[in-house]
Amino acid sequence: MFKRSLLVAMLTAATAATQAAPLTKDNGAPVGDNQNSITAGPNGGTLLQDVQLVQKLQRFGRERIPERVVHARGTGAYGEFVATKDLSDLTVASLFKAGTKTPVFLRFSTVIHGKGSPETLRDPHGFAIKFYTQEGNWDLVGNQSPVFFIRDAIKFPDFIHAMKPSPINNVQDANRVFDFLSSQPWAVNMLTYVYGQQGVPTSYREQDGFGVHAYKLYNDKGEYKYVKFNFRSKQGVKGLNVKEAAEQQGKDFNHLTNDLYNNINKGNFPKWDLYIQVLDPKDLNSFDFDPLDPTKIWPTDLVKETKVGTLTLNRMPKNFFNETEQSAFAPGNLVPGIEPSEDRLLQGRVFSYSDTQMYRLGANHQQIPVNRPVVNVNNNNQDGYMNVSERDSDVNYEPSRKEPKAATEKARAVQTPLSGTVQQVGVKEQNFKQAGDLYRSYTAKEKDDLIMNLAADLGNVKDSETKHIMLSYFYKADADYGTRMTKAVNGNLATVKAKAAKLKD
Ligand code: HEM
Repeated sequence: MFKRSLLVAMLTAATAATQAAPLTKDNGAPVGDNQNSITAGPNGGTLLQDVQLVQKLQRFGRERIPERVVHARGTGAYGEFVATKDLSDLTVASLFKAGTKTPVFLRFSTVIHGKGSPETLRDPHGFAIKFYTQEGNWDLVGNQSPVFFIRDAIKFPDFIHAMKPSPINNVQDANRVFDFLSSQPWAVNMLTYVYGQQGVPTSYREQDGFGVHAYKLYNDKGEYKYVKFNFRSKQGVKGLNVKEAAEQQGKDFNHLTNDLYNNINKGNFPKWDLYIQVLDPKDLNSFDFDPLDPTKIWPTDLVKETKVGTLTLNRMPKNFFNETEQSAFAPGNLVPGIEPSEDRLLQGRVFSYSDTQMYRLGANHQQIPVNRPVVNVNNNNQDGYMNVSERDSDVNYEPSRKEPKAATEKARAVQTPLSGTVQQVGVKEQNFKQAGDLYRSYTAKEKDDLIMNLAADLGNVKDSETKHIMLSYFYKADADYGTRMTKAVNGNLATVKAKAAKLKD
């Protein structure tokens, strides 16, 4: 006999259940019982005909996809870019017409550590933006530092292997990192950024974003200029030193993701102003560094910055996997008016991203809603796994008299004059000057933090030769920088000076 109160509770629950949406299987059919498997009598085994059980186990076993090979840990948000300056003399790109509003999705990330890693670990930070323009998607896949470690795509896999955990014990090891970097003197500029306050930002809102590479913008006369894209945070730039990062890790190691969700969800929308730097092709050789070398900035006293718009983030995704994890940014996703420059790192990136995304997400990943352009896709690429393009024409070739497709004149490759030979040689060096300038631009506190942060890693390097080569790079950049680092890791200053004296500028 039920007690009356229990009976009322059961009836209320039953009413609620009838009002709630039915639980279904993947075919949309309702589920009878999601708590008990179908068995052969009270003591027998589970029946294969229990589709609900089998389907749940199958789907669970297939939940993981490959994480990004780099930049696995990250979070994204939607927003809008508003162009404030007319750039039609520079580019035919429609998103740069003053007043144009372009929806965006921006994913922030760290580089080296895995998908669930603490956000307190020192790393460069990704700043990848998808602009959903009226002429297709433009992906500007940048970082929060304005330069990079290397300048040729052929080095990228080796560089990442050295930075990633050891293949033997799966632990990141400063000995491997600096073993590689000791042969890459041009990396000292990027190291001076990453071991400064930018390596562990206080929040994703309080960091800048840079396209890093030069791109080409071209106008309706076919004239082109080299351009860098620099996003400056309106929230300022703040970071944590090695001690503050350890404290933060003890409290909340998802602090970057939590901060972004909390702020945007309560209406505190972060903003970045976009500045461009423009260089005429005839001036490419007028610097003591190569402007197409991504280990270098274009100092703003040499090439001025002009504000061209503002980006605001104002909406968080509803589903992390669907939107953020499946977002796919590719430097090859360009729109008319924007082309890659001849920067050798960028040229490799133009290939690499779509290639890995075909493996990570499949050949049709650009049909996933977060990646899908807001304009029609109209070409003859077809079929493949998970295709939902809903093609309804039998003309899957081009040209066709029956169904002609127009070529767009303003999307034609810009004509770039060329001369020379096929070759495999390096570029103009100049490896240390900008790192020295950067060090000298730091405040006393920023210099103290840089030395402490760098020493925490370089101090773990057992091979004395590797350590002293690295120290000679810092010394060559700036004598005070090298001297302080040598002291901080108990190096031999005479050895450091002797090595630095042999380095080319
Ligand atoms: C030749 C050099 C480089 C290669 C081959 C390379 C390759 C890759 C690959 C394969 C991914 C994973 C993409 C995915 O699974 O969706 C990736 C992600 C990323 N890379 Fe690079 N990368 C290079 C240099 C750079 C540089 C110089 C920057 C910054 C300017 C950068 C910024 C990023 C960012 C931000 C992401 C994450 C994008 C996202 O949020 O999904 N990479 N890179």
